[in-house]
Amino acid sequence: MNKIAVSILNCDFGELSREIEMVNSSVAEWFHLDIMDGVFVPNISFGFPVVQAVKKKAAKPLDVHLMITAADRYIRDFKEAGADWLTVHYEACPHLHRTVQNIKQEGMKAGVSLNPHTPVSVLEDIVGDVDMVLLMSVNPGFGGQAFIENTYDKTMRLKEMITRKGAHALIQVDGGVDIKNIAQLAEAGVDVFVVGSFIFRAENPVQTIRELTNKQ
Ligand code: DX5
Ligand code: ZN
Repeated sequence: MNKIAVSILNCDFGELSREIEMVNSSVAEWFHLDIMDGVFVPNISFGFPVVQAVKKKAAKPLDVHLMITAADRYIRDFKEAGADWLTVHYEACPHLHRTVQNIKQEGMKAGVSLNPHTPVSVLEDIVGDVDMVLLMSVNPGFGGQAFIENTYDKTMRLKEMITRKGAHALIQVDGGVDIKNIAQLAEAGVDVFVVGSFIFRAENPVQTIRELTNKQ
C-alpha cells in the first residue's frame, strides 16, 4: 500500500474546507503543505494562517515542507500552527544538524529535502538523525511540473545508504508523481508519495487517491 501525502498547493483555496474534507474522507495518510518564501524558490505560497486553518479541520497529520531560508527562526511557529512533520532543505540550512535537533526538540518529526541536482551522498553524516528524506523530483517552486526521471536511480542510492547505515528515515518523493510513475517509485524504495495536481485535476479525487494507493 502506497502512502499518499496530498499537496494542497494546487487545490481550490476558495473552497479550502471542502478540499480538506475530501482529503479527510480519502485513504491519503497526510496533508502536505508547501511553504515558499520567494527567496529560496521563485514563488510565494502561503503561511501560518493557512496552516492553522488546515489544522483545525484536518483529521490526518500535517507534513510541512519548508522552501525558505532562515528556517530556524520559524520552527516553533510551525509547531504552534500545527505541523507534525517539518522538512527543511539541505541547500537552505548551513547548520543542518542543529536545525534538525531543534525540530525534534519542538516535538516534531524532522525531514531533510534535496533539490534534484543535490547528490544523496551529502546526507551520509545526518541520515541517521532524520525521520525522513524528501527527494525533490521537480525543481521546487510550483505544482504541475514534469517528473525528473533520475529520481528512480537517486531513490535506490538513498535506500542503499539508509540500509547500510542502519538508519530508519522514510523516503519521500515530491513533484510530478502520478499513476504512471508511482509503481516504479515504490519499487525503487519510496515510502511516502507527495501528490498534488494529479489529484486536484481529477474528476474524482477520492477515487484517484485510492487508485494511487493501490497501484503496484
Ligand atoms: C513543489 C512542491 C510540491 C508540489 C507537488 O515545489 O513541493 O509539493 O506541490 O505538486 P505536483 O504533484 O503538482 O507536482
Ligand atoms: Zn512539497
